[in-house]
Amino acid sequence: MSVVGIIPAGGSGERLGADGPKAFAVLAGKPMLEWSLEALAGVCERVVVAVPAGFEDPPDRVRGGASRSESVRSALAAAPEATVAVVHDAARPLVTRDLVERCIAALGDAEGAIAAARVTDTVKEGHGIRVLRTLDRSRLWAVQTPQVFRADALRSALDASAERLAAATDDASLVESAGGTVRLVEAPPENLKVTTPLDMRIAEAVLQSRC
Ligand code: CTP
Ligand code: MG
Repeated sequence: MSVVGIIPAGGSGERLGADGPKAFAVLAGKPMLEWSLEALAGVCERVVVAVPAGFEDPPDRVRGGASRSESVRSALAAAPEATVAVVHDAARPLVTRDLVERCIAALGDAEGAIAAARVTDTVKEGHGIRVLRTLDRSRLWAVQTPQVFRADALRSALDASAERLAAATDDASLVESAGGTVRLVEAPPENLKVTTPLDMRIAEAVLQSRC
């Protein structure tokens, strides 16, 4: 088994509004990407990062694509030896080694195992501003990364058009629609995604509280 980490870090971070790409914005003393790299490097044989154009450093920092899924595909293409792929967004710097290990352990004979937190808000489906129905919260999960896959299943799921890849909001949805079995791994809501400047402040406070 060759476990390879895949970090999509090729986005521009428009909503964060920093000077450069979000993955390199300094968070609690180091570039945001480094927090995820550290968590994955402890568990994976190798970690390949998809970076924005101009930040390439082969073989482990390759150029990302136009969409997140295209970036995952580029990084995975640089790791043909991988039999298990651990995909984790650079935008989730609060990931822990423990969570990565639990996702890998949950894979078993499934095609995927993904970190997810139970939903705590009541969720309604709407049509415009009209409520259609209230969903059964006990069955709902807010999906995160890491998302761990049999590398072959992920490779074939990512073998899709640019439009289809751009429409996918996570890798598991592509594996699911190819008929793959995906398992949920309960993760702490603390493993938040840094999107806005407010998220940066919250992530900084959590990281400092861990020291
Ligand atoms: N990502 C990527 N390649 C892209 C777009 C996104 O590798 N073409 C990565 C980001 O770097 C991030 C993760 O996918 O680690 C989740 O994306 P998101 O949080 O949306 O980051 P950005 O696309 O950079 O932010 P924004 O949408 O605000 O521009
Ligand atoms: Mg984005």
